[in-house]
Amino acid sequence: MSRLVIVSNRVADPRKPAAGGLAVALGESMKKTGALWFGWSGEIIEEADGGVPGEGRLHTEQAGNIELVTVDLCREDHDAYYLGYANGVLWPVFHYRLDLGNYEPGFAEGYRRVNELFARKLLPLLRPDDQIWVHDYHLIPLAANLRAMGCRNRMGFFLHIPMPPPLITATIPHQEWLMRTLFAYDLLGFQSDADLLNFSHYVQSEAHADVLPDGRYRAFDRTVQAGAFPIGIDVDELIRLAETKEGSQMFKRLREEYSRRQLLVGVDRLDYSKGLPQRMRTFRELLTRFPENKNSATLIQIASPSREDVDAYTNIRTEMEHLCGAINGDFGELDWMPIRYIHRTVARKRLPGLYRASRVGLVTPLRDGMNLVAKEYIAAQDPEDPGVLVLSRFAGAAEQLKEALLVNPYDIEHTAKVIQQALHMPLDERRTRHAALLQRIKDQDIHWWCRTFLDTLANLDLPPLLLD
Ligand code: G6P
Repeated sequence: MSRLVIVSNRVADPRKPAAGGLAVALGESMKKTGALWFGWSGEIIEEADGGVPGEGRLHTEQAGNIELVTVDLCREDHDAYYLGYANGVLWPVFHYRLDLGNYEPGFAEGYRRVNELFARKLLPLLRPDDQIWVHDYHLIPLAANLRAMGCRNRMGFFLHIPMPPPLITATIPHQEWLMRTLFAYDLLGFQSDADLLNFSHYVQSEAHADVLPDGRYRAFDRTVQAGAFPIGIDVDELIRLAETKEGSQMFKRLREEYSRRQLLVGVDRLDYSKGLPQRMRTFRELLTRFPENKNSATLIQIASPSREDVDAYTNIRTEMEHLCGAINGDFGELDWMPIRYIHRTVARKRLPGLYRASRVGLVTPLRDGMNLVAKEYIAAQDPEDPGVLVLSRFAGAAEQLKEALLVNPYDIEHTAKVIQQALHMPLDERRTRHAALLQRIKDQDIHWWCRTFLDTLANLDLPPLLLD
């Protein structure tokens, strides 16, 4: 069995409790064959401390039979690659926010330099039959760098964020080069059919790719397979967490505290793609239009700090503080505040109890690759008395989770009405919807996702010329 090599910007020890679902799931598939996980160490080396562009010290750590190898970045590389091209350009544009894309000269060069550095450091660690799986928008050109250095391994790439339509993609500085590098992979994975379709349109219209009879795409003298592989969660782990002592204590505490009130929950990174200001305005509309919710409906909104060194993220924080303050000021009572806003990261193990205690889960991004909170909210519910998921139709998850109440988060009045419907949904309907949703997230869980992607990669019929 060939060894698995995972490459992603962030690397997490899958044995540590703080590790997210992805780290844990990748850890599961890595455990079987033994694996190497390669990425950024999280360290930034200042120039004064010897940081040099295109260079970085390697760190190696053994986590069971998984080898974690990470590389430091110097300040200049980090700022141009991570803050600049990846999070200042690709992230906003791939999330349809052309207005927030902020390209500066040197960003693309820094991005190329770091991808080249990753390839140079990774190459000597590779064995001829390793399968390489690269993750997300930080590392699109990695396979092209490795191929240029002579690497002939099978390589797959998974894009965790949305793939926008061709004319939006076309606004990205250096996009021809970027999209061309995708053809150095053997398999490309997207979150949804809509993303796959956008990729397909792009490569046919902009790169004049041919679609072969077996569905593969041919351009730039290479052929690549592409598919939709919606990422899932570890459902069993979530259910276990909800039922641990800590999970059930949190649940009980909240249920007691809100015994005469109704709880709604939102858990997001504080990111402009998550539609948080729109959500707060919708909540205000709910209280105004349906006054019976006053002194009752309470929204717990966790917004964990994220990418605070990227300019586009500073306004959203101020806007949220202003909105939450204004709504609490207008509607709050001596013994009730409509919004509990928490701008901190909350320990993962505390979330399932919070989800379970909430009658409504609000997952209303303006655009999202998948959104795993939607799936975690479903998994954490008590099937006998489940809450209702209100889900943006612009989250990748909406393609799968049809039994949620789907909304357009830009339409504040309509979304408020849907939330009202969720708060008053009869038990029978809640159970029916929840059972269907739970089945779907169980059928396509994180293990299914890893297995399906890796089996597809392993079984690709690669003619020898593809390995040139
Ligand atoms: C999204 C991206 C991931 C990223 C995560 C956290 O889910 O798809 O690649 O790791 O956000 O963002 P950060 O910038 O902190 O790594």
